[in-house]
Amino acid sequence: MSGGDPPPSAQTQAVRAGTLRSQFHEHSEALFLTSSFLFDDAEQAARRFAGQEEGYVYSRFSNPTVRMFEQRLAALEGGEDCLATASGMSAILTLCLAHLTAGDHILCGSNVFGATVQLFSNVLGRFGIETTYVSGSDPAAWRSAARPRTRLLFCETPSNPLMEVTDLRSFAAIGRELGGLTVVDNCFCTPAQQQPLQYGVDLVMHTGTKYLDGQGRVLGGALVGRAAFVRETLLPVLRTTGPSLSPFNAWVLLKGLETLSLRIDAQSRSALQLARWLQSHPAVARVQYTGLESHPQHVLARSQQSGFGAVVAFELKVAEGEARQRAWRVINAVRLLSITANLGDTRSTITHPASTTHSRLTAEMRQKAGITESLIRIAVGLEDTEDLRRDLARALGA
Ligand SMILES: Cc1ncc(COP(=O)(O)O)c(C=O)c1O
Repeated sequence: MSGGDPPPSAQTQAVRAGTLRSQFHEHSEALFLTSSFLFDDAEQAARRFAGQEEGYVYSRFSNPTVRMFEQRLAALEGGEDCLATASGMSAILTLCLAHLTAGDHILCGSNVFGATVQLFSNVLGRFGIETTYVSGSDPAAWRSAARPRTRLLFCETPSNPLMEVTDLRSFAAIGRELGGLTVVDNCFCTPAQQQPLQYGVDLVMHTGTKYLDGQGRVLGGALVGRAAFVRETLLPVLRTTGPSLSPFNAWVLLKGLETLSLRIDAQSRSALQLARWLQSHPAVARVQYTGLESHPQHVLARSQQSGFGAVVAFELKVAEGEARQRAWRVINAVRLLSITANLGDTRSTITHPASTTHSRLTAEMRQKAGITESLIRIAVGLEDTEDLRRDLARALGA
């Protein structure tokens, strides 16, 4: 590209950014399945271990295929650098091990993924780190729950599964005011539809397992933010503790990024059509989808997302005592959608959050988060929308 050209667009970055070529000049990115790297001599080995010379040492520390994935994702999020991890949960764990010490306090949205709550409360709680959960959509609640040692503010927006939206500008501003690190789990919109760093958030966290892969094949995770924080604070903890991304998974994720925006945009269009149809279905009490004008935070979502993601949650019209059985009956009656806990796949999935992804929360936490027994979550894939509508119509009539 010549000097006067504008910077490459996101779609160009998605297929080009981060590419490293070996001596063989391969066109498609190579998969470096190697656990270690050779040194020219003992002196070079010593220099590499001492960090006096750039270069690969051992794949727990870094690997060229992993590095390509990190650089491509960093480009898409508009971040300086990225650290890849073995899963989304190990990204959060690595962050906490690197950034927190006993006595520190976490402020977290009450609507985050169930395992995130387990990690913060039950695992980190044993090491003297306390977490307070506050409504993701109430900035005042974050301020009033803060403590002198609040060092981490964590939210997921839109949230899983209820599509609650956190105002990214306010979230970043409160973090600055409190002197805490702000982190956004950007799973549902992906960088194709939302870039939290643009609004002043410090770090973006990803589960690559979902839309970044996009075809339900591998686990992976990532943290994207300022280069100094990624290289000097996060990387040393990852290389010591070892929840590193495998080169094979990195290669799958790297190729997944190339089609990310095409997939998520098509899946979102289908999700909006299905959300509109579900809203008018007589068996459905309420639909949660930020793309619907009736969503209480539709305007906020529009202001910070360029799309609405492909996850739709809905509650059934049913008496409380029969809610779980009725929701399970609907789920058991689908023939096309897959009954599985994953999302972000090209194949549509259907889940009962209260008895699966959020089952380890206490009943009180589920109630506070709005995860009712009749709530069903669908993650819309790339099948024909009309086929999906027909499948859901039959299931709702069962
Ligand atoms: C919003 C969200 N964040 C984090 C995770 C955890 O990611 P992983 O399964 O890759 O550890 C998930 C997994 O379902 C998720 O849905």
